[in-house]
Amino acid sequence: MSKTRIAFIGAGNMAASLIGGLRAQGLDAAQIRASDPGAETRARVQAEHGIEVFDDNAQAIADADVIVLAVKPQVMKTVCQTLQPTLQKGQLIVSIAAGITCASLQAWVGARPVVRCMPNTPALLRQGVSGLYATAEVSAEQRQQAEQLLSAVGTALWLEQEQQLDAVTAVSGSGPAYFFLLIEAMTAAGEKLGLPRETASQLTLQTALGAARMAVASDVDAAELRRRVTSPAGTTEAAIKSFQSNGFEAIVEQALEAASKRSAELAEQLGK
Ligand SMILES: NC(=O)c1ccc[n+]([C@@H]2O[C@H](COP(=O)([O-])OP(=O)(O)OC[C@H]3O[C@@H](n4cnc5c(N)ncnc54)[C@H](OP(=O)(O)O)[C@@H]3O)[C@@H](O)[C@H]2O)c1
Repeated sequence: MSKTRIAFIGAGNMAASLIGGLRAQGLDAAQIRASDPGAETRARVQAEHGIEVFDDNAQAIADADVIVLAVKPQVMKTVCQTLQPTLQKGQLIVSIAAGITCASLQAWVGARPVVRCMPNTPALLRQGVSGLYATAEVSAEQRQQAEQLLSAVGTALWLEQEQQLDAVTAVSGSGPAYFFLLIEAMTAAGEKLGLPRETASQLTLQTALGAARMAVASDVDAAELRRRVTSPAGTTEAAIKSFQSNGFEAIVEQALEAASKRSAELAEQLGK
């Protein structure tokens, strides 16, 4: 990426996180440009990251090697169709918009190299994880550029089939909210058991963080880690048995199926 020029179309939350990540990785401010209709948004990213900003998308993409489409899915069609006549041969299009398929993007920008990504909100803290899918037109060098871009805000994982992005959306895209739900429920249950709310909240949050860190650092899987902390006839076993007798795994499976199905439905609607 030492010479790659990157243009962001839309300079909102996700674009700003990516720009911050790239700058932290050592990319020069002169390699990055962004366009956004909001004067305040432009001023913010310019002040924070020292990059050049534009109110005209066509100006931002001139001479860019990589064009990151970081606008809301609802405006993607118009943005792409407006950009299309100014695109140059060999420019890589990277879309981070939820639910916009490569076929839709290529229908709007032409048969160009496109990488479609599904990041998640912890990208804002550079703790995200993204699924990436590349169309056949994407070169090995461009794959590397896309991977480095998304790696600036967390872990980047390539997918073999575009359809798998619905599953990525179900697991990690929507995933932070599932953990927030569990945190809410555990905090409320702790309070019911007699703890002050703040204490229950801190115990839950630190437990979530500690468990995630243990699981990430461990060379054994989560099931084994669970077995190791579950003594026969102990307190953890009592709780796990209660979870499982209430169908915990089935509840999770159904929830992720619902998210994946909704992701496919949204792609269908937004691609028109
Ligand atoms: N945030 C996440 O956790 C997350 C996770 C996965 C995927 N994504 C995807 O990332 C994309 C951006 O999300 P975000 O959260 O960063 O949204 P955001 O903060 O609203 O940023 C989008 C920016 O694009 C600007 N914009 C609107 N129309 C434009 C145009 N025609 N040309 C250039 N810029 C334009 C918006 O300006 P105005 O506000 O003035 O309209 C806004 O500043 C979305 O497609 C979303 O699906 C986000």
